[in-house]
Amino acid sequence: MTAPAPDNSAADTFYARTAEYVAVLLESAWESLGPTLAAALDGLDPAAGPVVDVGAGSGLGTRVIARALPATEIFAVEPDRALRTALLATIAADSDLRARVTVLDTDLLSADLPDRVGGLVAMNVLGHFPPTERTRLWALLAERLAPQGRAVLDLYPPHRPEAVPATPMADIVLGRRHYSGVAAAEPGGADAIIWEMSYRVEQDGRPVASLSAHERWYVLSPGQLADELGAHGLRLRTHGATDTMFVIDRGPASRR
Ligand SMILES: C[S@@+](CC[C@H](N)C(=O)[O-])C[C@H]1O[C@@H](n2cnc3c(N)ncnc32)[C@H](O)[C@@H]1O
Repeated sequence: MTAPAPDNSAADTFYARTAEYVAVLLESAWESLGPTLAAALDGLDPAAGPVVDVGAGSGLGTRVIARALPATEIFAVEPDRALRTALLATIAADSDLRARVTVLDTDLLSADLPDRVGGLVAMNVLGHFPPTERTRLWALLAERLAPQGRAVLDLYPPHRPEAVPATPMADIVLGRRHYSGVAAAEPGGADAIIWEMSYRVEQDGRPVASLSAHERWYVLSPGQLADELGAHGLRLRTHGATDTMFVIDRGPASRR
């Protein structure tokens, strides 16, 4: 029997505090992310194995994966209870997703994953993994990724621990309410920044809610990432014209 999942529902974690804002505001990011991710997954053979959606959030990426790969099984891993509730609602509302998506309620490194995976998708999530956990993630990928499989992830600046001035992230109107978020960061040691996310809700121009939350985010450059992956026999390539979306595979030599 599988051990019970750890309780990630503590009220003071970043996502427990921010989940309703994250779920609403990520929608606008996916308008451009969706087509780019779908193109990066194009042609992935369902016979290679299931695809793992790491930190699936409310399921916006899970939906994109399912549409891009209509015959592939998906494991959506989401440790935060509030976001997982939104994820489960997304899956339960769609008969195709219901038939193909299994939701796992742990962090990725504790998840009970298949021995062989055809793909792994990690969108807006890599910064949550400290270097030691990244090493375990690449080891897991090197061990389980099918020879013809691939992983897709995004990596945004800053690539070094440096300050990020306050930048509007997203803005969305739901009925009479207007949701917005602003992100700023300060260096947080040798390999991380500390994001300060400020969320605000207004109705008819009047503030009705606001929240500020901090979260550590580990930073690295595409060059560092390529070196880390290379140590595990994995290759990093940029996807298409973007310099923020990357594809990882085993490279030509190991496919023969
Ligand atoms: C910014 S959200 C992105 C959600 C989703 N991937 C998207 O782009 O819409 C980051 C997600 O990663 C999850 N997460 C954080 N640490 C994780 C870990 N160690 N394993 C799996 N998921 C993790 C969080 O719970 C959260 O849902």
